[in-house]
Amino acid sequence: MSTGIWLVGARGNVASTAITGARAIARGVVDETGMVTGVEPMASLDLPEVDELVFGGHDIQTQSIEETAEQAHRDGGVPDRETLDAVREDLREIDDRVAIGTARQCGETIQDLSDGEATGDQSLADIVSRIRDDYATFVREHRLDRLVVVNVSSTEPPIDEPERYASLADFEAAIEDDDPNLPASTLYAYSALVDGHPYVNFTPSTGSALGGLRELAERNDTPHMGRDGKTGETLVKSALAPMFAGRNLRVLSWEGHNILGNTDGLVLEDDDNKAGKVASKGNLLEEILGYDTHNAVRIDYTPSLGDWKTAWDHIHFQGFLETKMKMQFTWEGSDSALAAPLVLDLARLVAHADEHGEGGCQPQLASFFKSPQGVDEHDLSRQLQRLYDYAERHR
Ligand code: NAI
Repeated sequence: MSTGIWLVGARGNVASTAITGARAIARGVVDETGMVTGVEPMASLDLPEVDELVFGGHDIQTQSIEETAEQAHRDGGVPDRETLDAVREDLREIDDRVAIGTARQCGETIQDLSDGEATGDQSLADIVSRIRDDYATFVREHRLDRLVVVNVSSTEPPIDEPERYASLADFEAAIEDDDPNLPASTLYAYSALVDGHPYVNFTPSTGSALGGLRELAERNDTPHMGRDGKTGETLVKSALAPMFAGRNLRVLSWEGHNILGNTDGLVLEDDDNKAGKVASKGNLLEEILGYDTHNAVRIDYTPSLGDWKTAWDHIHFQGFLETKMKMQFTWEGSDSALAAPLVLDLARLVAHADEHGEGGCQPQLASFFKSPQGVDEHDLSRQLQRLYDYAERHR
């Protein structure tokens, strides 16, 4: 079985690191550390092998995958020189398969990143037809048995009135009517699901979250999941908050301040684009704690940091005898090195679900996301347990 991974945002940091990592694993330069599918019980599933994954994708700008990886090496040391040199030829070959996508309704900051073609005045129906052709051509030319589409493109502003697309009929009518409200991520998602390609949304953008697209996935028995990869501050939050809840330590406030410097940071500097990210980072505490607490998340662009993200969190909590206490933590991570292995994990795990006829939302993948679609559980260990149970069932 050959599996293709189509990365929407293929020339960005997360995509180029995922491709670099997969090819470096294939060439024996690095191991699978950081990949959830690299450990049991997931490692025993009949997943597509990392070294057999075939990559392609869409982007809206012309800086190549190799140039992005080179810049990431220069600015932040990830990947290292030896790894980059080992996969350089692979990156060039994959970049030749990147097609120009669409920047439709992604906000001005993203449009400014794009070249003219991606912002052209094609109708929605034409854009969808072009995206479907791009997927189909990739499948045909590489004789793929399965194609998984993963959105790792820049964060769009949240969609207005998502309830207007609650059914598939509503969504398809909106395409026919050339509805200016539909953002690019929904077009990539629709184009995947309508032809039965599994879809993963690693970003806070709308993607397959609309009712109409969930209906389509159910109808076509196609797996899909999102939204927004859980890789840093929110990952730590979802591990720590259950401790406060379990010990009946009342969280009085939880302040989080993130600074980051890559293009993701630049795009999130735009308040419209930032709104989606802040929403998806913010909503898990109440669910885990069971009560509202003062809880603010700030994200600031700090160009000199490149791909290295820092988060400071200050947790003020109350214990026995009304004693007030504090916990603070600092998280410093290479954004892309944290995200990239999860992109590979998710692609392999939705391919597995597809192989086993498990269409629709994939709740066993909740631990990978800040806002897991169709799942209210945000406690990391309980989310992971769902994945382990799934893997044990299939082993
Ligand atoms: P990036 O800015 O380096 O890459 C994004 C890529 O998407 C760029 O090459 C851009 O040209 C392309 N793009 C933008 N709009 C597009 C469109 N409409 N169609 C096709 N391509 C488009 O960003 P990075 O760091 O790679 O992050 C990618 C996404 O993953 C962001 O939405 C980010 O919020 C999300 N994410 C990243 C995490 C991490 O890095 N740890 C964690 C969770 C989510």
